[in-house]
Order: sequence, then structure tokens, then C-alpha cells
Amino acid sequence: MKTSTTPVDIQKAATSKIENTDFNNLAFGQVFTDHMMICDYKDGAWQTPKIQPYGPLEMDPSARVFHYGQAVFEGMKAFKDEEDRIWLFRPEDNFERINKSSERLAIPAFPKEFFFAGLEELLKLEKDWIKKGFGNSLYIRPFVIATEAGVSAAPAKEYKFMIICSPAQAYYSGEVRVKFSEEYSRAADGGVGFAKAAGNYAAQFYPTNLAKDEGFQQIIWTDANTHEYLEEAGTMNIFFRVGDKLITAPTSDRILDGVTRKSIIALAKEFNIDLEVRRVSVKEIVEAAKSGDLKEIFGSGTATVINPIVGFGHAGKKYDLPKLEDSYAGFFKDKLTKIQYNQAADKFNWRYQV
Ligand code: COI
Repeated sequence: MKTSTTPVDIQKAATSKIENTDFNNLAFGQVFTDHMMICDYKDGAWQTPKIQPYGPLEMDPSARVFHYGQAVFEGMKAFKDEEDRIWLFRPEDNFERINKSSERLAIPAFPKEFFFAGLEELLKLEKDWIKKGFGNSLYIRPFVIATEAGVSAAPAKEYKFMIICSPAQAYYSGEVRVKFSEEYSRAADGGVGFAKAAGNYAAQFYPTNLAKDEGFQQIIWTDANTHEYLEEAGTMNIFFRVGDKLITAPTSDRILDGVTRKSIIALAKEFNIDLEVRRVSVKEIVEAAKSGDLKEIFGSGTATVINPIVGFGHAGKKYDLPKLEDSYAGFFKDKLTKIQYNQAADKFNWRYQV
């Protein structure tokens, strides 16, 4: 448990929505808790963090975020163990990544003490929203937006850093089939693919809608230059199992450095699973699917944890993946969630008690 000396101004909500929330039927990201954290940047400095009742913001219609998309975000989760203790998973990594994303979008860095002080106070207030049991969590969404009024195309001088929280169960409720992208791209060299920039996600919606019309839930993005290498799915990093070997693409300018992704890589090393971090070609995966060597594809991310893919499409053809009893997806999900819910030793020091 950490104790911070950073003051946080707290204004409690007069009533709670918790009694009206059906925790057994949660669609991802639809219900939000009673409070939010908010911290303004003005006159060249981040001001005192505040916690206040969750509610709408009032902003000038010319605020930069609406026009130039100066916005970044993070995804984190809090878990409750059987003794009602609350845990975060590798929160320092999210803190570092939001500032890395901010730097790329010319947004000022957010101070670490403010991040952790605000987050911990918020989670203490919202502790009843975190339910016990595998699969239950509180999804935490830190984000930064440019609030300065005026449409001149330049970085804003005013921002809001905020954290909102939403009780969560599964991210995808059904089977996931993916399409290998042949035309559209998510990111380019020198671009913002590595950042959790809001615009990265907006740009995926249209091609993903086209893929949905063909019966796929997500796209696996290929490299923008050749479309020959598989890189990342819309909300997940991606792993391929060919025979008993696991393969995933290296992080780069174009690929998000996923916290779940790097945790899987560490666990694979711990459990001596043969893993290669290297470029993965469309050709080798299609050939492996044809020969029967392709055993699994799964995605990883904070919201989804580990999501098995049941099939993929490429060049007008559809391929189904086998159903495995002893899948790597199941193996890693079990190992990861046991660490997250404080039901297994934490040899990597990933857990952080609130
Ligand atoms: C997460 O896994 O937290 C993400 O950021 C994906 C999000 C777009 C739902």
C-alpha cells in the first residue's frame, strides 16, 4: 500500500447509482461509477487534482480536442481479492505510457504523484463498485484532452487530465473472427501507432465496419507499406501459435507496447514456451492454416485480457481455427488472472495494492 502526500480535493456525490446497477449484465463501458478525477492544466502547470461527482463537462465548442484531436488515453483495471483488498496490475506502465503518448501529441506530461494520488483516492471511494470473482473488475480510463478555446492549429495551453471508472465483465461477448487487412492501415512509420491516441481508434472504425459487414469482428492490421506483415488488432496485440511456437510482432512506431502483451512474453519465458518476437508474415500464417500447423491466434489487451480468435479471413477466403483443449490462450489467461486477483505468487512484482 502506498501513501501519497499529494493533496486531492474531494467532493463526494450526494447519492450513489450502485443500487441501480445490474452487475450481472454489464455491457462493456456503459455504466460509470459515482465519481471522477479531474486535474486542469493552465498557466504552464497542472493544478491540484480533484475528485468530484461523475457528470458532464462544460467546454467551449472551439476547444482544441474537438478540432485537432489532441487526446490520449489509457486502459487499466482494478481487481478485488477474497479478502476485499484492491489490486492494480502494472499501473506504473500505464502511467509511463500515457506520458509517452502525450509527448507524441505535444501534451504536457502528467506528474506521477498526481496520477497515483488521484487514482488511489478515487478507487478508495469506489471500492464497492469492484466486485470479487474472476472476470469482474473495475475498468479504469485515464485520459487527457486539450480544452483551450480557439481553432488555430497549434498545441493547446490548457488541458484536462481525467480518470473515469466503469465496472466490467467480458469485453467481447461472442466469438471473434478477424480479417487480415489488405487495403487500410492503422499506423505508419513515424506516426502515432505506438501511442494510445484517440484518433488511432477513430480511424479504425470505418474499415472495421466494412469487415463487420463481411462477418468479422475485428481487423488484424498489416504494415502500411506492403500489407505483408501482421501487426496488431483494433483493440488488442496479437499472438499466433504455429505448432507449439508462439509468435508476435515486435513493438515499433506502429505497434502499441501492450501491458498484457509484455506480461505474456514474460510468462512464456518463465514457463519455457517457445516464443519468437519477430515479424509475422501473412503468407506464413495462411500457409500454416492450410497445412494445419496454425493452432491458435489470440489477442491480448487490458479490456479483453486474452481473447481467442476462432477464424480469420484473407483474400476472399475464410479459415477456421481448431478448438483446443490445451490452448496457450487458456494457459496465459489462467496465469495472468490468478496474479491479477491475488491468487498466485507475483514473482514479477506486477501487483500494486491500493
Ligand atoms: C484496453 O484494452 O484497455 C484498450 O485500450 C482497448 C479499448 C479501445 C477498449
